[in-house]
Amino acid sequence: MRLDIVTIFPEFFDILDISLLGKARRSGLIDLAVHDLRDYTHDRHRTVDDTPYGGGAGMVMKPEPWGEALDEVLPQDPAGQQPLVIFPSPAGDVFTQAMARELSTEAHLVFGCGRYEGIDQRVFEHTATRARVRLVSLGDYVLNGGEVAVMAMIEAIGRLVPGVVGNPESLVQESHENGLLEYPSYTKPASWRGLDVPPILLSGNHGAIAQWRHEQQVERTRRVRPDLLES
Ligand code: ADE
Repeated sequence: MRLDIVTIFPEFFDILDISLLGKARRSGLIDLAVHDLRDYTHDRHRTVDDTPYGGGAGMVMKPEPWGEALDEVLPQDPAGQQPLVIFPSPAGDVFTQAMARELSTEAHLVFGCGRYEGIDQRVFEHTATRARVRLVSLGDYVLNGGEVAVMAMIEAIGRLVPGVVGNPESLVQESHENGLLEYPSYTKPASWRGLDVPPILLSGNHGAIAQWRHEQQVERTRRVRPDLLES
């Protein structure tokens, strides 16, 4: 999978060198490049924003640097499917595990991190003439910019790319994969500070364990996220 990130804070993404995703990059499963939006400006101050037409608070990101950055990142003449360009935005579709799974099958994702009050609307329109475009929100709250949202999305998507997580079984049993939250986990010792592991888990009865875990998932989901059971 090819990933490109356009941002005014490229150093923010240095941590993608470590952990599972770092390993996936070194092994070639994930090919990731980070582009500094300011490299596509032409003034002494490397200006990426300006005041909004029509007035109002805050600054808007200028279209020209975005256009040039995307000129470089997007293939001129995509032979196969067009890349998908994701702009993180609180006004977008809410990111879910189902969306992460869908996006993990894409060959080329481009993330455009906005800052300030947003990006000039024409950038979305123009990008849609040469790629698929999607606005995606991390949730119903406002971040200072798209970088944290992109980091979360890349972690959720990257770990679903085949080969990135060593044991694919571990992906099947986690929260949200079957519409339920995950069951509680325990490891040794069997008794710790007066707290015992539920005896069923020591029984060796795999059928009974599977059933207990499922019940725990349903009970936890009902208590914490009843909305998941309705949908
Ligand atoms: N940028 C600012 N807030 C955001 C959010 N909630 N999700 C995605 N991008 C954002």
